[in-house]
Amino acid sequence: MENGTKKVWHFQAAANGAANGNGNGKARSKAAVATIREVRFALMDNLNKEDQRPLIELGHGDPSSFPCFRTDSAAEDAIVDAVRSGKFNSYGPSAGILPARRAIAGYLNNGLPYELSPEDVFMTLGCAHAIEVTLTTLARPGSNILLPRPGYPYYDACAANRNLEVRHYGLLSDHGWEVDLEAVESLTDHNTAAIVIVNPGNPCGNVYSYEHLKKIAETARKLGILVIADEVYGHLAFGSNPFVAMGVFGSIAPVITLGSISKRWIVPGWRLGWLVISDPNNVLRNSGFVDLIRGSLNTSPDPPTFIQVSDDTLK
Ligand SMILES: Cc1ncc(COP(=O)(O)O)c(C=O)c1O
Repeated sequence: MENGTKKVWHFQAAANGAANGNGNGKARSKAAVATIREVRFALMDNLNKEDQRPLIELGHGDPSSFPCFRTDSAAEDAIVDAVRSGKFNSYGPSAGILPARRAIAGYLNNGLPYELSPEDVFMTLGCAHAIEVTLTTLARPGSNILLPRPGYPYYDACAANRNLEVRHYGLLSDHGWEVDLEAVESLTDHNTAAIVIVNPGNPCGNVYSYEHLKKIAETARKLGILVIADEVYGHLAFGSNPFVAMGVFGSIAPVITLGSISKRWIVPGWRLGWLVISDPNNVLRNSGFVDLIRGSLNTSPDPPTFIQVSDDTLK
């Protein structure tokens, strides 16, 4: 109260916009609730404290919490050397420093029928940031994106935050959680920008075969959409299918490969990821998409410079 009248502030939380008919606010508050963290914290808060049975947190994708999982000493040494050198204390380029981009391109080149260059690699603050940047560049009025169900809810949350419509396609539980390609075709229209696949999959653990990945690429080509391949669990493949990078099929349909060192190197706290243009026909470059990615990175925090990823580190 000021001078007997109620003080009016001329701002409001975005979520309150919903009450005023502003759809953005509603979508944002829904997005926050949809994240896996919110659900996990709610479950942990509601545990029966009297129950003495040990708890295995299956929703916690961070092996580094268990002392038996430790990253390779080559990775630790690389960080220590880089920090001690004093050469990496300044701001770096938003796309990442060249030696790291070169090392990531070299690492991902393994098994590709064409060669990635450092120019195709954009370093990000973990794979989560790569997801954010990708969805930011896809969001334009009316556009939509295809996401797997079951899926990794961060995609839904990021899409909601950017007013990007989400359409869910099913994963076929009796076919190794393969993509229901018929559903993908029926969901797609001329506003569909991309399909997201997570391979190896979270939460289903699928590892797609070469043939299935090729079919996904052919479907994307037929529909005129790009493939966003979340390979944050790349090479963490159990079972009979070896891991095949979606980038192998980049000449059929343009692929954006997202990844990080979080899982395979057991260091999610280091926040180092990448967004890679796996598109030998330059469809994304020619359509201005790569410039949009660069622009989006220019307006977000720079990736760490002290992680001077070397070819030796990424083994
Ligand atoms: C499918 C998927 N993508 C992306 C991420 C985020 O990875 P990062 O920790 O590198 O941001 C996770 C983390 O659990 C994930 O499961």
